[in-house]
Amino acid sequence: MEDEARRLDADDPLPTLRGEFLVPPAPGGAYGEAAYFAGNSLGLQPRGVADRLREELDDWARLAVEGHTQARRPWVDYHELLRDPAARLVGALPHEVVAMNTLTVNLHLMMASFYRPEGRRTRIVIEDSAFPSDSYAVASQAVHHGLDPAETVVRLTPRPGEDTLRTEDVLARLEREGDTVALLLLGGVNYLTGQLMDMAAITKAGRAAGAAVGWDLAHAAGNVPLRLHDWDVDFAAWCTYKYLNSGPGAVAGCFVHERHVRDASVPRLAGWWGTEPSVRFRMEPGISPPASADAWQLSNPPIMALAPVLVSLEIFDRVGMGALRAKSERLTGYLASRLASLGGAQVITPADPAARGAQLSLRVADADAGGLVRRLAERHGVVADARKPDVVRFAPVPLYCTFHDCHRAAEALSDLVGGPA
Ligand SMILES: Cc1ncc(COP(=O)(O)O)c(C=O)c1O
Repeated sequence: MEDEARRLDADDPLPTLRGEFLVPPAPGGAYGEAAYFAGNSLGLQPRGVADRLREELDDWARLAVEGHTQARRPWVDYHELLRDPAARLVGALPHEVVAMNTLTVNLHLMMASFYRPEGRRTRIVIEDSAFPSDSYAVASQAVHHGLDPAETVVRLTPRPGEDTLRTEDVLARLEREGDTVALLLLGGVNYLTGQLMDMAAITKAGRAAGAAVGWDLAHAAGNVPLRLHDWDVDFAAWCTYKYLNSGPGAVAGCFVHERHVRDASVPRLAGWWGTEPSVRFRMEPGISPPASADAWQLSNPPIMALAPVLVSLEIFDRVGMGALRAKSERLTGYLASRLASLGGAQVITPADPAARGAQLSLRVADADAGGLVRRLAERHGVVADARKPDVVRFAPVPLYCTFHDCHRAAEALSDLVGGPA
């Protein structure tokens, strides 16, 4: 089986770009490099990041304040450099995207604009397995509007005995109760189960019901192809430290549909980077927002934090999301086939490749996900992560994970939780 994995690596139409990343040593040191499956939590560091940061540091040292206009990548409009590649990544028009802040901050900025409860239409619909930050964010938005979160936030649950949501159930719910929904805010790929939602169908149904539709793309950006503009999504936000490999706490991305960026009646929280650059330094009190997602920017951008995002986007541009997704399906499919019949763990991610990205989540029978992850690392050099109590997540990230890594994970799991029952 190991030979087969090596052959799959050698024959793959998209050879691994592992050499462009810093792969950590295996915990315990006995296995050389780690088989790293935690890129859905924190992606690996591209080798190009250190040089790029050094350039920005040098420009700061050499130029100080003049760097705003004289740096080799002038800081005053540095965020412009990220616009086109970010737009290509999420299927947006360039003026619909901006790199700024962090994910939860962007979700709040978006809700300040697009969560406008009125009359009967006050509810926010999320998944029951939403990432906790999203649960906290929507509850606090309800409170901010003087509403009771317990009545305002609706959590979508799978059918009894099932782990993932069925699109038809989401659509039926929207059809039944849509006139009470002000905002639908779901994860494009669910962080826990790895389920890839039918964003086109759900966005259409949500908007037809009269709700605003936003997507948390933390686990989708850089993982699956997106067409936010064509899907008519109202807004989206994503972090860049997972599949986008831009480093811990890296600057996030944000999408606002064209129809809103041109609509002066949309309320916004504002700051000086949200005004037209041509008038910004007149230092006048009145704001002149541009007809672009830039109008949601507040502060001048953090250059040291944007530099790694730019390096990462250059990699995605070079490889292309289409080729990456095709490899991702091959890798995840291979791992899924190797994990199909483990004794003490069961894959809860959808089996249909169209309904998942680069993640397989396993439910472990003894509910000791933390212990299993520790043993995987210590005994086998395989890095996965635990979502307690009973889920272990593996992300075969196509940029740097190999079929051989998947083989190592499958062998390690078979050793620790038992082979076919
Ligand atoms: C789905 C999802 N939403 C929100 C967050 C919170 O992100 P941040 O801390 O960047 O705001 C995360 C973090 O992992 C996440 O996975």
